[in-house]
Amino acid sequence: MSPDRPRVFVARVIPDEGLDPVHEACDVDLWTDELPPPRDELLRRVAGVDGLLSLLTDRVDDELLDAAGTHLKVVSNFAVGFDNIDVPALTRRGIAAGNTPGVLTETTADLAFALLMAAARRIPESVDYVRDGKWATWGPMLLMGVDVHGATLGIVGFGRIGREMARRGRGFGMRILYHDVNPATPEDEAELGATNVEMDELLRDSDFVSLHVNLTPETHHLIDADALRAMKPSAVVVNTSRGPVIDADALTEALQAGEIFAAGLDVTDPEPLPADHPLVALPNCVVVPHIASASGVTRGKMAAMAAANLLAGLRGERLPTPINPEVYE
Ligand code: DGY
Repeated sequence: MSPDRPRVFVARVIPDEGLDPVHEACDVDLWTDELPPPRDELLRRVAGVDGLLSLLTDRVDDELLDAAGTHLKVVSNFAVGFDNIDVPALTRRGIAAGNTPGVLTETTADLAFALLMAAARRIPESVDYVRDGKWATWGPMLLMGVDVHGATLGIVGFGRIGREMARRGRGFGMRILYHDVNPATPEDEAELGATNVEMDELLRDSDFVSLHVNLTPETHHLIDADALRAMKPSAVVVNTSRGPVIDADALTEALQAGEIFAAGLDVTDPEPLPADHPLVALPNCVVVPHIASASGVTRGKMAAMAAANLLAGLRGERLPTPINPEVYE
């Protein structure tokens, strides 16, 4: 350990594009397990560090900041979402926080659209059908799904990822509705062929509802039993945002009762979803393990960006992508 090199805790192995520059500049304590550090271990490991490279599985709050102590200058989250971070708590202490926006937008939208198609055309169920040796003949009634082309896509949350979802929908000749508390400009709406509507209209008129909001107290259980009842019986809901945006019990009941056609979930509540959770067993629910940004190129870019934020914070410079720019005021 060198006294003039900053000490950092890196909470998981990330791609070399991020680890290499951090190793070059810092004394690194790297958590190498596949699972996140248990809470008490995390609190122990952050004691006295100058910087923390955290993941969305690590809660960064007053308790952690107390455990870290007064040297901590920067928390760099390896994710665009930062609902694991108590941002005001960091700002109060003058600690900069960063995230990785922009670089994962298209990769995430690709996965959202893949889930949409997989759920609509019952692809995992069809794969199981073949694997289970049930494929006896061409069946005129076999594994019928719902059409994607020409359908109405309702996008909830029209930020970067929601807009990329709109582009993908346009490629399939879909009609695009969206709902966002901050509507897009008329120019952006025209470019994306998207119409801003109230939430109840979006739920009523959409064949596909795709969620792209941040998790906040306002969006917690945004899709509850009433919202699911408001959707068409042929509707498909897709979630690549955060699990608690959907009430999982209400979704289970709606899928079991045929109130909606199917769901495609990259994120769940709880997360990870236990293998014996009812949603896993439902044939009309496609669940994948929070992999929306998981392409080699994108995870490399996220790692480089997380490292750039961490190193800038350690040098006392403004982070390239700060979550709490108010810390500089
Ligand atoms: C994020 O970045 O917030 C995703 O959920 C993981 O890439």
